[in-house]
Amino acid sequence: MFKINENYLKLPGSYLFSTIAKKVSAYSAANPDKEIIRLGIGDVTLPLAPVVIDSLHNAVDEMGKAETFHGYAPDLGYEFLRNAIVEHDYKKRGADISADEIFVSDGAKSDSGNIGDIFSVDNKIAVCDPVYPVYVDTNAMAGRTGDYIPEQQKWSNVIYMPCTAETNFAPELPKETPDIIYLCFPNNPTGSTITKDELQRWVDYANKVGAVIIYDAAYEAYISEENVPHTIYECEGARTCAIELRSFSKNAGFTGTRLGFTVIPKDLKSGDVMLHSLWARRHGTKFNGAPYIIQRAGEAVYTEEGQKQTGEQIAYYMNNAKTILEGLKSAGYTVSGGVNAPYIWLKTPDKMTSWEFFDYLLEKANVVGTPGSGFGPSGEGYFRLTAFGSYENTVKALERIKAL
Ligand code: MLT
Repeated sequence: MFKINENYLKLPGSYLFSTIAKKVSAYSAANPDKEIIRLGIGDVTLPLAPVVIDSLHNAVDEMGKAETFHGYAPDLGYEFLRNAIVEHDYKKRGADISADEIFVSDGAKSDSGNIGDIFSVDNKIAVCDPVYPVYVDTNAMAGRTGDYIPEQQKWSNVIYMPCTAETNFAPELPKETPDIIYLCFPNNPTGSTITKDELQRWVDYANKVGAVIIYDAAYEAYISEENVPHTIYECEGARTCAIELRSFSKNAGFTGTRLGFTVIPKDLKSGDVMLHSLWARRHGTKFNGAPYIIQRAGEAVYTEEGQKQTGEQIAYYMNNAKTILEGLKSAGYTVSGGVNAPYIWLKTPDKMTSWEFFDYLLEKANVVGTPGSGFGPSGEGYFRLTAFGSYENTVKALERIKAL
């Protein structure tokens, strides 16, 4: 009889956003007359920018002619896209990354889960608490996290780095030495950021203890303040300790189109083995590339017009973030985030648990958010709202919350 990967049986419940979707569907089916406003999952609502649509149309036409048809994409992604990425995302920031260190993919979520393939199951991971659940769940699937302890909502073999109001929702260097450190800034879910000096401390620490940092910079386009790093490679020494994950979902609305990339510098080694070679082997074997038309769409994001149009989208969402922040503050809520990130992190009122507040908001205001405890035990008593809704819905949601 075949055997299953029993690590899957250790996972508690379903994926956070699937659980929420089920709850909302059930409520909606029972209350068909209610108009529900969704500020839960971080999914964008604005249509793709015109320049992206033009590029898609052109690429589709190319696919319809023998002379310009494209089959399998090159393993690392098309050069036109990797060159644009290097120019815009790295050179401009003074970061030393070359096009052959970029691996184009179908998104940062898959990469953040798949990257574990190249690491031994014996590595110990450290994660922020609260944290984007994909990092922990995928490590649990790989058998790297020990057992789940329901009373603590923790895994036995994971180093949790609490990110609380006392630490400005940033992690402190862990007491126990990890092998793999997951960092995400601007942060999902809290919307917090760290300064370049603070990130430099992590890079120095990782180099000192021989750990690798998996740095998720999916939200970097939302940074509005100076001195907040856009890429970990702005830090000295990051080439020998950091992998960076990037996404086109949040900066250019590609959640339904799927495009991202992972950066692995060739200097990042375990002994004399380059992680770059392992990921290249993995990528070549298990992945056949993001579609040509989508990579062309990604290229369009980096054009002058693309930067202008996607910049306007980001400004639109950040205006929503401001509306939520100010609205909640005026209603007496304790809030953070929402300045360099499209997420607003609020303390639940009246000592409600995160899930109690979720139900309360859904039933009384017909507004959907994400319970903080779904991101980890330190998220208990907190709640996340996203700025990715329409402005009209954001205003309406805030009016309803204020009226409670
Ligand atoms: C979220 O809501 O946290 C995001 O949708 C995460 C993601 O991009 O997968």
